[in-house]
This record gives sequence, C-alpha cells and structure tokens, in this order.
Amino acid sequence: MRQSSLVVVANRLPLDDNVAPDGACEWRRSPGGLAGALHAILEQTPSTWVGWGGGTGPARDLPDIGSLRLRPVSLSEDELRGYYEGFANSTLWPLYHDAVEQPVFDREWWLAYRAVNRRFAEAAAEVAEPGATVWVQDYHLQLVPQMIRELRPDVRIGFFLHVPFPPPELFMQLPRRLELLQGMLGADLVGFQRPQAAHNVAQLAAKLLGTRGADDAIILDDRVVRTGAFPVSIDVAEMRTLNARPYVVNQAHQLRHDLGAHKRVLLSVDRLDYTKGIEHRLTAYSELLRDGRIKVRDTVMVQVAVPSRERVESYRGLRDRIEREVGRINGEYGRVGEPAIHYLNQPFDRADLAALYQTADVMVVTPLRDGMNLVAKEFVAARRDDTGALVLSEFAGAAAELEDAFLVNPHDVDGLKETLLQALAAPPEELATRMKAMRAYITSNDIHAWARAYLTSLEKPVLVP
Ligand code: ADP
Ligand code: G6P
Repeated sequence: MRQSSLVVVANRLPLDDNVAPDGACEWRRSPGGLAGALHAILEQTPSTWVGWGGGTGPARDLPDIGSLRLRPVSLSEDELRGYYEGFANSTLWPLYHDAVEQPVFDREWWLAYRAVNRRFAEAAAEVAEPGATVWVQDYHLQLVPQMIRELRPDVRIGFFLHVPFPPPELFMQLPRRLELLQGMLGADLVGFQRPQAAHNVAQLAAKLLGTRGADDAIILDDRVVRTGAFPVSIDVAEMRTLNARPYVVNQAHQLRHDLGAHKRVLLSVDRLDYTKGIEHRLTAYSELLRDGRIKVRDTVMVQVAVPSRERVESYRGLRDRIEREVGRINGEYGRVGEPAIHYLNQPFDRADLAALYQTADVMVVTPLRDGMNLVAKEFVAARRDDTGALVLSEFAGAAAELEDAFLVNPHDVDGLKETLLQALAAPPEELATRMKAMRAYITSNDIHAWARAYLTSLEKPVLVP
C-alpha cells in the first residue's frame, strides 16, 4: 500500500463517475463547494484523497489526478441510504442549517453512520505514512478524527467543517450529540467558516464534557484541541485563466445575444437545495413582475439549479415545488419567445459557468443559511471589468467577507424585492467601487491562502497545560 504524508478524508471524491450518452464511463468534477475547493490545492501536492466515488458496491480503482492519489471507499445500498441520505443529509444537514427543514432522527441511520465513519478512518490510517497529516472534511465524517486518533496516535489530525455549526440549543436536540462532539474533538485543530461556530463548540464542550479553555483552545483531559475560523475560498487564478479563454468570451457574447442584448440579466446558480432560498427568490421576482416594477421585455432571470441528493424526499419535494412555480411564472408573465425565467436543471462545466457569470448584470445569491457559498466568490472572480452587482444573503458565510455586496435578509421578501431593484438601478460608479473592493479581497484571500492558513496552524506545536 502506497502511503502519503498528507491525507485528505472527505465523503466525496473530487470526481464523479458519469456514464456518457454513448455508454462510456467518464469522470467529471463533482459539483459542490468542498470538492472544488480542495481539488484546486491538492492537484499539485503529493497527497491521497480518501472518499466515495459515487454509486454502490465494490469500489473501482481510480487514476491519479496529477500528484493526487485517490483511495475510494465503497458503500452498500443500505449504507448509502442510512449514512449519506439518512444521517448526513436528513439529520445533520438540516439541523446544521438552522433547521430550515425539519431534521429527522432515525436510530438505524446512526448505526450506518458510525460503521461508514469507521471504514473511512481505517482507510485513512492505512494510507497515512508515519507522522503524516490527516485532514478530515465535513459533517459526514464527524466521528473520524477520534477514530483515527485511536488507530494512529502518531499522526496529526485536522478537521474542517464546511457547513455552519449550529447554536447549542439546536445541537442539543441530537440524540447522539455526545459522540458527535467527542468525535470531532478527536482532532488537533477544528476549523470552521465563522468564529461564531468555534464559540458554539466551546460552549457545548464545557456543558457536555466539562472542558475548560477558551473559544480557540479547548482543554480536554490531557490534550488541547485548538479551534478557529478559516473561511474557505476559490481558485481565483483558475477563474482568471478561464475568463481569458476565447471560448468563454464568445460564449458570454452568445448568451447575452440569446437572452436579449438590451435586457438586464438576473442570475442564480445553486445546487437544488432547500437551504439556498430558491423559493423565496422566485416569490420576490414574481411579485416584482406582478406589481409591474420589472417587465419581461427588459429583464430576464436565469436560474441554474444543479440536481442534488435526488433520492432524499425533501429534495424531491423541493424540485417539484420549484418547477411548478417556474411554470406558473412563465405562464403568467412570459411572452412568445420571451420567458420570464430560464430554468436549467443540469450540471455545467467550469467554462460554461464562467460565461454565465460574465453575462449577469445582477448575481442573486440568497441562501437561508450557508456555510460559505463559493458561487458568490466565483461571480466576483469571473468578472472581467468592474460591472455587475452581487446581491448576497446575510446568512451566507461569504457575507462576512464580501461586505460590498448588496446584503439582504432573504426571509424578508419585501426587503429582497427592494434590494433587487436597488441593485438593478445602481449607478455604474457605485458598482465599480463595490466590485473593485470585493475583487481585491478575494484576490488576496484565495483557496491557496485558506489551505496555507489552516495547514500552518495545524502544524504549530501545542503546549499541554
Ligand atoms: P454548496 O457547497 O452548498 O453546493 P457553494 O456555492 O459553496 O455551495 O458551492 C457550489 C459549487 O458547485 C460551486 O463551485 C459551483 O461552481 C458549483 N456548481 C453550482 N452549480 C453548478 C452546475 N450547474 N454545474 C456544475 N457546477 C456547479
Ligand atoms: C456541500 C457540502 C459538501 C458536499 C457538497 C455537495 O458543499 O459541504 O460536503 O460535498 O455540498 O453535496 P453532495 O451531497 O452532492 O456531496
């Protein structure tokens, strides 16, 4: 077994096994913030990524990506249901996102979650060389840090949570709260998107485990678990290279022409997820049309909603509701050859996404709760000049960094409507000032800065109290 000095452990590998129309198997980059972020930094670092490659049954051997080795972990059909669709995405995901959808507690799912976490921990322990750094990612694998510590006390263990960590009163609802907290605190450094998350964990640890310490260092038995905020980012350089590609520039012109050269374009790009606030956004847009405050002849909306977690009931219900609403809005307000909304329920490659970002006048990113939201940062990085407005939810982690966006509370539909109108009407000088500030920020806080900050902190020696 080949071993690495850096091992990343994440539920999903950065590639998805995709069956092409001609039946051939091809690999494509998985949608979602985590895969995109880590893929950018690991492609050039000798390392191993332990993760699930999609599908069920025995895992197939996968090719290396540059200097990154892939170590697939298999899931059975029952495990996929209990661990991934169940405990991870029907219990933890909704609970961690402010319970905007009701979390479901099912005892069988817990057993699958624990068993699969053990399989990931064993795989990581196998591929980590002596003294290696093992970096565990996200809510799917919250028990893994402690399991690795038991299997391999010689390695340094990091854990990073890409989603929000909830307030203590919500976390306390979890029947297995103690194990989940202890699992995560098996790491040497626990990283979050926002400082509030570290505060929530310190409070919980004091309450449930009687720990001492502060928000950035929890003293647990004879160990110090450090915690901190490390807001994740995007590969700005990759986006710049894409922007300059003739295909992207031509595609952006073509899109602009197809949408109507004189029209103002509102764009949203999301995984089809109830945390993204798509329904609230459609309500605001439809009311603006109803009230005559915007007109189909001069404004158009593009909603990209890539299919996600399609077998989970709440996601299926959401898709039905959104598609009904898009149909209603187009039926009521569209004209022949002029729909009010273009709805695209499909994955796009990076170049086509970049072209879409370049086409937008107003990028509308209004999640009800989001750990970070990389789409907002991608939009800023994709702009070739200082045009374009970003409407951004206060409840996205990105809002703490992109303060020059038009910030909005997406639960407040009237406020959302006013903010959309404000962004559409903003003078070019104001937009340029805002865009310059946001671009400067993400340029110096890109994905490489994020990885460096986290890994440097993880390597720092800790004095035992
Ligand atoms: P989340 O991680 O919850 O999905 P983010 O906004 O942080 O939300 O990340 C979404 C990622 O998925 C971005 O990198 C974005 O470019 C990508 N993405 C979104 N929609 C699509 C799509 N239709 N096709 C391909 N990638 C997409
Ligand atoms: C979010 C999560 C990631 C996840 C991604 C896509 O970004 O934080 O861990 O990979 O969504 O979701 P999926 O269920 O398709 O992996």
